[in-house]
Amino acid sequence: MKKVIMDCDPGIDDAIALTVLLAHQKQVDLIGLTTVGGNVSLDKVTANAKKLLTFLGSNTQLASGQSQPLVKEIETAGEIHGKTGMDGYDFPKESSDYPLTSHNAVTFMYDKISNCDQKVNIVATAPLTNIALLLKTFPDVSKNIEHIYIMGGSTLQGNITTAAEFNAYVDPEAMKIVFDSGLPITLSGLNLTENKAYMTMDEIDHIQDLGKVGVMARSILEFYSSAELAKGMTKIPVHDACAVMSMLAPELFTKSTNYSIDVSLSNDQFRGMTYPDRRVYSEEHNNIEVLEDVDREAFVQYLFDSIASYK
Ligand code: BDR
Ligand code: CA
Repeated sequence: MKKVIMDCDPGIDDAIALTVLLAHQKQVDLIGLTTVGGNVSLDKVTANAKKLLTFLGSNTQLASGQSQPLVKEIETAGEIHGKTGMDGYDFPKESSDYPLTSHNAVTFMYDKISNCDQKVNIVATAPLTNIALLLKTFPDVSKNIEHIYIMGGSTLQGNITTAAEFNAYVDPEAMKIVFDSGLPITLSGLNLTENKAYMTMDEIDHIQDLGKVGVMARSILEFYSSAELAKGMTKIPVHDACAVMSMLAPELFTKSTNYSIDVSLSNDQFRGMTYPDRRVYSEEHNNIEVLEDVDREAFVQYLFDSIASYK
């Protein structure tokens, strides 16, 4: 069985991604969940992770990590995810009792990965600050990492700026460290998550018919959808769910050949822009497979089935 650590900033689409992941506990073993400042502050995303783990009946260990990106001040996305970072649903009060390890996420990940009897996969759905620090502080950890599944960047448009996707923009220095690590990466960028793997409002409405977890998922997605629609979107992206599904159901996706991808660290309008090196003669790492397309109906059905599987 695959061993997995998920690093996230819930975040409404992070919540959907975690819901899909925990629905497949017979297929993958989530050995830890870690949080990082991103969509909202670290204390809020950690509180949201506690709510989700309690609500979804998980007992995986939770560790909180970095509150700030490596170099610049954090920028958040409360306008999309709400003041709490997961607006739209009233989670039961007892979720604040969910235990938090005393370790920082970076040392927690290192301990978990280096003491695991097999290589570990990482799913990263937030700015890559924790993962970059893990790789830089404990370089020997790399040999125990099997694969990293990331939601971030784009080979086409940005969302937070014309050029940059949010997770890339918030901590481009971290993303560059992770991309340059040479580790095998599968990337769900906006070219996939916004342009191909979207949901319609009818599909989102249908989620409420899928049981108790469906009611929760639809409520938070309804909040998020109104913010996306107000921004001018017509279809609703569930970005982070793509990273989880690219690990659980890779057959749903069409992927590129492997590239090396650079990240702009400039302090101008290109900061956080990600650009693949498509030169056939490139001698770079070529360690990143970019997801380019998806069987959208099968993707939505997989999401429905995952949510409906909670009883
Ligand atoms: C990414 O940014 C965040 O707001 C989402 O949770 C997702 O990880 C999309 O650009
Ligand atoms: Ca996220």
